[in-house]
Amino acid sequence: MSDYNQDKLTADVVAAFAKTPDPRLREIMSALVKHLHAFAREVDLTPEEWLAGIRFMTATGQISTEKRPEFILLSDTLGLSMMIVSLAQARASGARGATEATEATVEGPFYWPGAPDLPLGTDIGEGVPGEPTLYLGRVTDCDGKPLAGALLDVWSGDGDGKYDVQLSDAPTMKARGRFRTDAEGRYWFWSIRPTYYPVPDDGPVGAMMRITNRNIYRPGHIHMQVSAPGHVMLTTHIFVGGSPYIDEDAVFGKRDSLVVDFDKHPPGKAVDGREMKAPYHSASFDFRLAPAALKAAA
Ligand SMILES: [Fe+2]
Repeated sequence: MSDYNQDKLTADVVAAFAKTPDPRLREIMSALVKHLHAFAREVDLTPEEWLAGIRFMTATGQISTEKRPEFILLSDTLGLSMMIVSLAQARASGARGATEATEATVEGPFYWPGAPDLPLGTDIGEGVPGEPTLYLGRVTDCDGKPLAGALLDVWSGDGDGKYDVQLSDAPTMKARGRFRTDAEGRYWFWSIRPTYYPVPDDGPVGAMMRITNRNIYRPGHIHMQVSAPGHVMLTTHIFVGGSPYIDEDAVFGKRDSLVVDFDKHPPGKAVDGREMKAPYHSASFDFRLAPAALKAAA
């Protein structure tokens, strides 16, 4: 048996991955080993502590289901999801840094593919607790040219801070829908104004948040995936301006550019012609999508 010192151990494990045929996988595994070893050395990790870590990850896997993806929540609460989002957006913009496209943020654990395709103006908030809100705006490219037929896939929690998938073991879709922009790139639909909510805290991630005194709340937001041919799909939120926790998002997803004032209106005719018998809100936001192919440097 080799007489390992710590540096040789790390070098030998990296070397063990040297024959990985896929060069990208080789790069990822080598870096993972180096950083894992460096982490253990930095904190002088004990066997008991590493066993606790293994138990934590085991519990994270065991509680996970398709509708309860605890590992996504772990990635979100460690800020890793937001780091990956940021890297992807920088890559899409062709430069690490400024971009003219709408800022992206985390997808989160509650996306449910297959929401119904609905006509513009549909109310996806019917029967959902919360104050009615008209969402409206445009989808354009980075030059402001309207994108007709762009797809908005929309989902949110309700006015009590609950997503449909959290309401029962056999949930039905609520506050979800897919809309396509009109010829001028416009969209509009009705839903409710989502409120702040705690990330699921009855599993291992919740336990981690508690013992580290972390805030478990996210500010109110509605999720959007916006896509159009020839453009990078944008996964983002519109945040409710003034929401509690707007400056301490538990998953670090809030961006100032995504915070919108939800204007309050008295009962009456809304701009889309709907007659409202109760007060309602409106939230206006324009999405700018990055081109899928990077332009050649001038
Ligand atoms: Fe959310």
